[in-house]
Amino acid sequence: MAEQIEDFKTFSQVTDARWYPRYHIAPPFGWCNDPNGMCYYKGQYHFFYQHYPYEPRWGPMHWGHVVSDDLAYWKHLPIALKPEEAYETGGGCFSGSAIEKDGKLWLMYTGHLQANPEEEAAIGFPHIEFQCLASSEDGIHFEKSAKNPIIEEADVKSDDVSINDIRDPKVWERNGKYYAVLGSRTRDMAHGQILLFESKDLTKSWRFKAISARSDGNLGGMWECPNFAEINGQDVLVFSPMDLRTDDGTFYYDKVAGVLIGKLNYRSGIFTHGEFQYLDKGFDFYAPQIMQTPDGRTVMIGWLDMWNVDMHETRDGWAGQMTIPRVLDIKNGKIISTPAKELEKLRKWKPITLGKVVIDEATSFDGVSGEAYELVLTIDAAKSKKFSIALRASELEQTVLSYNSNGTFKLDRTKSGEVINGIASVREIQIEPQDKLKLHIFIDRSSLEVFINDGAEVLSARIYPKRTSQKIIFTPEYETLEIDSLEYYKLDFGIPHPHIKDTVVDVAKEFPFLKA
Ligand code: FRU
Repeated sequence: MAEQIEDFKTFSQVTDARWYPRYHIAPPFGWCNDPNGMCYYKGQYHFFYQHYPYEPRWGPMHWGHVVSDDLAYWKHLPIALKPEEAYETGGGCFSGSAIEKDGKLWLMYTGHLQANPEEEAAIGFPHIEFQCLASSEDGIHFEKSAKNPIIEEADVKSDDVSINDIRDPKVWERNGKYYAVLGSRTRDMAHGQILLFESKDLTKSWRFKAISARSDGNLGGMWECPNFAEINGQDVLVFSPMDLRTDDGTFYYDKVAGVLIGKLNYRSGIFTHGEFQYLDKGFDFYAPQIMQTPDGRTVMIGWLDMWNVDMHETRDGWAGQMTIPRVLDIKNGKIISTPAKELEKLRKWKPITLGKVVIDEATSFDGVSGEAYELVLTIDAAKSKKFSIALRASELEQTVLSYNSNGTFKLDRTKSGEVINGIASVREIQIEPQDKLKLHIFIDRSSLEVFINDGAEVLSARIYPKRTSQKIIFTPEYETLEIDSLEYYKLDFGIPHPHIKDTVVDVAKEFPFLKA
């Protein structure tokens, strides 16, 4: 197959590294949103993402592509899908998933056709969505199927589906049959829902099975990016509801991401389930994808951003980044997410560790500071009634985590740096008070991920501090703060960039597909 050479000079260039992540996946040029097609194929992890390389804004969607041997170190590959066909004109190649069949890697995605005014008058909608396939022998070069679209309007055997919003297929195989869930909404656009399709062959014909799950009226008017997995014997539907009602304070915004835990009846296609649970209660988390690792874990990566919010890195020629890979588990009926253990490989330098420390005033520790690190803390919460931890701090700015022993945990980014419009800047959640509070924090230039009490709660956020704001300041807000243990790890570059200087890569070797 001919080598695909990308003329990267036509792409949007990253002009400043101040907010560009060291170890999180981000686009090498231009824009990214949803994770796509996360899978394990021929001994490597493949990860794709919604991508517009030409400008740091959403545009006709391509699929960006990175690959990894270990979920810690990643490498950019050529763009996997570009909008080229009639069924993807305008919107491009929307989100989808990946599956291996007969040695080939298949991508199942949504072709989003943006109608021109005449077409709109004819179909009555501004856009229409088709499900499509592309395949690859080497996991790098993809060819779209001549049978595309493989699912279209006429295949949806229900009159309660809005035909212009059917997207983001997640495909899986079970007992020799293929299944796909699709995000959708009711015809009156009032309720988000999930459609289930099945196929004997994956590549030729798909049959509508059922509307598997639907909003009860409180879970939004459209469900995007469904994913499906079995975790500890239970079925889990991951999805991103939008158009949520926020006026009664039930949800943080009009878009969130979460799970329903239950059971899929493969005969009827109906998914019975419990209550909606958040996957992340931070400001910026949407459209996560999940996959099964060879050792049976369910790993998730989400988009560490949110729609319609300021992304200040657009000034630097790029936009958007992913979360770290997180492992999903269910404990006592509750979804738990923890950092994938493979990330420990990025701990390239000697850690700084502290045992018991009791402080009664604002304190920083030698060397415990930076812009790209991991911090593991156990705090004696029984003896520390109220305290705060300032991250990416300087005289001018800080991002503050604070805790009160009644179980109130707060993330405050009002003074983080560049002001972020479009969304609240203080998030307060209630956690189960325990004698020991465990925090696992990942900082990477313009992001923050906080795992609380072994993943019982997670808060993710983008922040835009000055490069020089690197301090970590611990402050008892009432008497003393007792730290039982602290581990600080500076983290390595996990994903080399073609021209950000301090990643120091051999461009010809690492990026042979980029035209010089
Ligand atoms: C979710 C989403 C998907 C769609 C994609 C387009 O963020 O709206 O439903 O496929 O983004 O980029």
